[in-house]
Parts: sequence; C-alpha cells; structure tokens
Amino acid sequence: MDWKAIYDSRKCTAKEAVNKIHSGDTVVLAHAVAEPPLLVEAMVANKEAYKNVTVSHMVTLGKGEYSLPENKEHFTFRGWFTSATTRKSLEQGHGQFVPVFFHEIPGMIRKGIFKVDVFMVMVSPPDENGFCSVGVSSDYTMQAMKSAKIVLAEVNDQVPVVYGDTFVHVNQIDAFVESSHPLPEIGVPKIGEVETAIGKNCASLVEDGSTLQLGIGAIPDAVLSQLKDKKHLGIHSEMISDGVVDLYEAGVVDCSQKSIDNGKMTVTFLMGTKRLYDFCNKNPMVEMKPVDYVNHPSIVAQSSKLVCINACLEVDFMGQVVSDAIGIRQFSGVGGQVDFVRGAAMSLDGMAKAIIAMPSTASMKDGSKVSKIVPYIAHGAAVTTSRHDVDYIVTEYGIAQMKGKSLQERARALIEIAHPDFREELGKEFEKRFHVEF
Ligand code: COA
Repeated sequence: MDWKAIYDSRKCTAKEAVNKIHSGDTVVLAHAVAEPPLLVEAMVANKEAYKNVTVSHMVTLGKGEYSLPENKEHFTFRGWFTSATTRKSLEQGHGQFVPVFFHEIPGMIRKGIFKVDVFMVMVSPPDENGFCSVGVSSDYTMQAMKSAKIVLAEVNDQVPVVYGDTFVHVNQIDAFVESSHPLPEIGVPKIGEVETAIGKNCASLVEDGSTLQLGIGAIPDAVLSQLKDKKHLGIHSEMISDGVVDLYEAGVVDCSQKSIDNGKMTVTFLMGTKRLYDFCNKNPMVEMKPVDYVNHPSIVAQSSKLVCINACLEVDFMGQVVSDAIGIRQFSGVGGQVDFVRGAAMSLDGMAKAIIAMPSTASMKDGSKVSKIVPYIAHGAAVTTSRHDVDYIVTEYGIAQMKGKSLQERARALIEIAHPDFREELGKEFEKRFHVEF
C-alpha cells in the first residue's frame, strides 16, 4: 500500500487514538519536548475508561495530570526522572521512581525490563517518502517505537526535521493525530554574577579543540556564555540548548577537531527555544542519535579532549556528589551525568575532564542560604556521582580537583571553594572528622 493511503487510513482524533489504551497497560511518553500534549490530555480526559495504567518517561515539560492523587485509581506515574509536575506524586506515596542511567533505557526497553504497551510521541509530518522525523528526541524514542505494541503519534507541523537516527516510516505508527502548535520552550536562564564566575572557572578548563557535553540547568548555559574566545570547539552532548547556537554563530563551535562524528554536533535530544529548533531543522551540522550511542560511556570515551559540565545539589567532604535528591525527596534523576563522568574517566586520549559545577550556596524558601558543600550528605539522600568517579568540582570561588587526593585533601580543597560565610563552620567539622587542625 502506498504510504499516503496508510497515513490517511490511520488518521484519527486524539480521543479515538487513546481508545487504543487498555486497563493494565504501560504507556511510555516520549521525552521532554517530544511529549505529545494533545494525546496526553486526551488520555487523562478518557480516564474513566482505564484502571491501573502505568505512565513512564524521563523529563516531562507537560502538566503531568496523570500523576495527581485524584487520578491514582486510573494511572500510576512510574518515572525514570521526576520533574516539577510529577515530583509530588512520589511524596504522596502513589508515584514510583526507578533509578536508571539514561544510556541504559533503550536496552531496558529492548530486554522487556521496561514494558511498552503504548508509546506516545510527537513527530513531524511525513516527507515525500513517508518518513516522519522524531525531531527533538531520538534518545529512547527509536527503541520504544520498535518495541511498543501500539505507537500513537501527534503529527505537529512545527516539529523540526533533524538528521540522524530520527526517521520513522508511517507504517511503524498505528494512529496519527494532526496538530499545529509551538513546541515547549525553555529559555536561557538568568545568568547573574555567581553563574558568570562559575562559567569563567569552568571555561578555564576548556582548551581550544575541546569537545563539550552540557547538562541540564542554569550552569551549563553560564559556561557557554564564557567560551566566546575559544576556537574549534565540538559538541557531543545528550542535550543542547540555545547557548550552543550563539557559539556556532560566533564561529567558536565548528566540530572540526572531533575524533568521532567529525564535523557534526552529536546530540540525543533538544531543549531550548524556537531559535534552537529552527537552527536544527534540516541542518546537516546536527546529528541526532539514540541515547545508547550518544551517552554510552564507551562512545563518550572516544571523544577527544572531552569536557563534561553537569550540575548538582550538594557535595560532601569526600567529593560524593548528590544531583538528583534533596534528602529523601527525589528531585530529578541521574539522567546522563554518570554516563559522561564515567565515559570521561575512560577517555582514550586521557585528556577528558568531568566538571560538576554549582553555586556555593542554595536559597531556601524562608530566604536563608545553605552551603552546598557539606560535611555529610543530607539524611536519606542518594549519591549520584561517587567519590571514586568524581573529577572536578567548581563553584564561583574556584576549582577543586578530586582525583588523586586523599579524603582530607579533598575536604580542604572543597572548603576553599565554599562560600566564605560557611568556611569557618566547615573548618570545625573538618577538625571533628579528621582529628587534625584545619
Ligand atoms: N539543599 C537544599 N535545597 C537545594 C540545594 C541544597 N543543597 N541545592 C539546591 N536546592 C534547591 C534549590 O533551592 C531549588 O529549589 P526550588 O526548586 O524551590 O527553587 C532546587 O533545589 C533546584 O536547584 P537549582 O540549582 O535551581 O537546580 P537546576 O535547575 O540548576 O538543576 C540539578 C540542578 C542538579 C537539579 C539538575 O542539573 C539535575 O537534575 N541534575 C541531575 C541529572 C543530570 O545532571 N543530567 C545530565 C544532563 S540531563
């Protein structure tokens, strides 16, 4: 059958599409910007038709209504990451969190450890050969498409066509719901004095010709803003945001020195503004690939002069990094942080640097500040990057390199880059712990 006939025969309303979901199913949503809002809204509106539907995904930028307590008879959120709208369900006891490295998700789907009865995704309209682009997110999308019993797609004409492993033929999709709406946008966060100082410290570790990985949050963007005088930078990063477009347009990013995927920015998902999505649209410079390639430590290790920059919530005296939990509160997930930290440690050229960057303090709701460098991690928190894996910690006060240092030396180096208001108190804790003068 010609692809147009397949497409037309499977075109339907969102309500008709979500009628393909059944009680007891596991519904996996595509990641971040690729989540299809019309299908998710229709699924929630159709809730009376379901009991015990499990909803799984990584980051969501959506409303997360399936995770509300009033919907718990119909849906259980089982997240591989938690976001602003889904986090509460864990605290209320009806949501579940599953720790998993980002690069492992396609394999877990392939092996059936992560079940996918229904996969819901947003794609571009089909091209002249009947192929849709998953555009903003190849990560686990490509495997979920293959493993799902049913694939439901929202066909949004504002989804960019991005080259790489991103194309699916219409015959791989069971229902098409047409839409036209702007994609969710994550603007460049406010970069103040603290972020600028952190950015400068990180930039001092980036040499010309380096390949960059950038994590999620304000800090990676602050770092990008400080790289304008570098040359021949490359990108091999699970995500990119608008800051990378600035550096490309300034001629700083050209990917000419990359040891793998030379001449291309290698990414697995996009999260930025329309400017980023337009930049990536049909741009041969951008190559999007699944996360079990981009984030696999053995692939990361092949990147030359790699510099990975990720953020965290707290670091203890031993250099244990907590990035996804605040005490027992599950705040996010490991994402790709450890994929890149480990890949950097295995780097074939031995030149990689894995940076964990953070402001020295965090602001609490009552206006007080706490030090993010602490003697002990908060009760109930989980270590994201272990003391064996950690490499550089950066704050606005400097750089503390951890590898090769003893526990005492690590603690001293970290206190030196803590906020001055907390250094005395941290020094006393140092003396209690190590029984030597600070
Ligand atoms: N103690 C208590 N609360 C803290 C804290 C600490 N030590 N450090 C931060 N917080 C609070 C902040 O006050 C803020 O609270 P709010 O939501 O009420 O404003 C919240 O935690 C988030 O902190 P913020 O610094 O604004 O986070 P961010 O948006 O820059 O993201 C991470 C930082 C660490 C949460 C994020 O990078 C992450 O999830 N990392 C893990 C995954 C990862 O690195 N993946 C790689 C790329 S995807």
